[in-house]
Amino acid sequence: MDFVARLRGFLDERSILIDAADQDRYLHDWRNRHHGRALCVVLPRSTQEVAAVLRLCSEHGVPVFPQGGNTSVCGGSVPSEGGEGVVVSLERMNALREVNPRNNSMTVEAGCVLATVQEAARAADRYFPLSLGAEGSCQIGGNVATNAGGTSVVRYGNTRDLVLGLEVVLPDGRIWNGLRALRKDNSGYDLKNLFIGAEGTLGIVTAATLKLFPLAKTVLTAMFALDDIHEVVLLGERLQKQFAGELVALELMSRSELEIVLRQIPGSHCPLGDRGQWQLLIELTSAADADTLTEQLNACLEGALAGGAVLDAVVASSEKQRAQLWHVRHHVTEGNKREGMGLTHDIAVPVYRIPAFIEQAGAMLQARYPGVEVVIVGHIGDGNLHYIGMLSHEAWQGVEDKPGYQQRLAHDLYDIAVPMGGTFSAEHGIGSLHVDEMERYKDPVEVDLMRQVKRMLDPKGIMNPGRVLPRHD
Ligand code: FAD
Ligand code: LAC
Ligand code: ZN
Repeated sequence: MDFVARLRGFLDERSILIDAADQDRYLHDWRNRHHGRALCVVLPRSTQEVAAVLRLCSEHGVPVFPQGGNTSVCGGSVPSEGGEGVVVSLERMNALREVNPRNNSMTVEAGCVLATVQEAARAADRYFPLSLGAEGSCQIGGNVATNAGGTSVVRYGNTRDLVLGLEVVLPDGRIWNGLRALRKDNSGYDLKNLFIGAEGTLGIVTAATLKLFPLAKTVLTAMFALDDIHEVVLLGERLQKQFAGELVALELMSRSELEIVLRQIPGSHCPLGDRGQWQLLIELTSAADADTLTEQLNACLEGALAGGAVLDAVVASSEKQRAQLWHVRHHVTEGNKREGMGLTHDIAVPVYRIPAFIEQAGAMLQARYPGVEVVIVGHIGDGNLHYIGMLSHEAWQGVEDKPGYQQRLAHDLYDIAVPMGGTFSAEHGIGSLHVDEMERYKDPVEVDLMRQVKRMLDPKGIMNPGRVLPRHD
């Protein structure tokens, strides 16, 4: 019996998409930069169904491409062009299995959309801190698989720091139930951390137990405008020290980025004027009443304005104004997509080296890529910059060897970041886009260990081939 006929043995008609039109949205990414094909797209409804699909794929040697909300920005969620594999979409596995406020934990299925998880925590008077621009579409399974970062890492860490336990279907179809809801568990190797950030190359995450936190009583959001990037970093350091327990977000935007959002996203508004090459968006939260924190923030702000480094500042005075500030921040990727061809780089360097990186990278771009506009948005408290070379659609059309140009520019930037103790992939992962960089920039011992882990867990090499590690591995 052929592969699809055997799938039909345990999945109903609606769980197997064969027609090109039905498959379409699973075969390209959100920015329409990566395209693939598939034998079929399957939409399992339970862990057991995922296990049966993987068992069958393993038997037939059919590649498996796990997919969450398909918001990857590095081609991780789109199947390969050969069309010999199966896309396994987790979108129908979206049950909230348990919310446990007394244990400050919740267990959710992989296909739960991040915004729904945040909302369910809030409904239980708790807070789930992971937050990113794609939160209305990305799924918790995708967040786990990419170890997503986002805008609250300075206080709560990456997704890895928010996961207590996982349920994973292994490539041979076995189910590992690691859904423990403990803060301490040293009973052997910490296997969950192998699957977090593995981008679906070692197995399919079907559920996760997540950490919850108390809901804050007070939330203060502010934006500062500055001209000098050295001053921005120093201000960030001061804020981290002064508001050690309260600072949850420390986000940077260049003026070029802010203007793109204001130009491209209807309804976007920035309460600051047009001064300042850099905008710093901060958020403080506290379990205490607003008064003391507001007083401290105002004093800090007045000091910064008096010192001259901060040119302008605003503290959101209403929930509406707070939402406006975050609306701008969370629409950078959408704005950049509309603006032109944004060549995005997701670098990180130690925080204090950010000014040096920006200066060296800026000089390099000016010398080697004249006409390319520098657009920067980033999680500056984590040393993580999305350094974007923006070309107009027309200019990009005129570039002859597009992949070559893109790779040259990327390597020129990574050759500045990596010697500073940095990385070419801070939070977006490797996907299919950055596979070549693994051998160029990673320690060979590290790559070799990764290969061995991959061989041990996925000996037939069916899980997301061509992602993270080169295909021949
Ligand atoms: P997908 O894109 O569907 O998949 C991503 C990878 O995970 C793929 O390799 C896929 O095979 C694998 N995968 C998906 N689900 C599973 C599963 N259940 N089991 C195993 N493997 C799986 N990222 C950040 O880190 N920080 C940000 O601030 C941020 N902001 C973004 C803003 C916008 C507007 C957009 C479009 C993207 C942003 N991203 C950000 C990138 C992206 O949203 C994240 O990587 C997100 O975690 C991906 O989740 P997803 O469900 O869409 O996964
Ligand atoms: C952000 C995405 C691009 O920080 O990671 O907006
Ligand atoms: Zn980001």
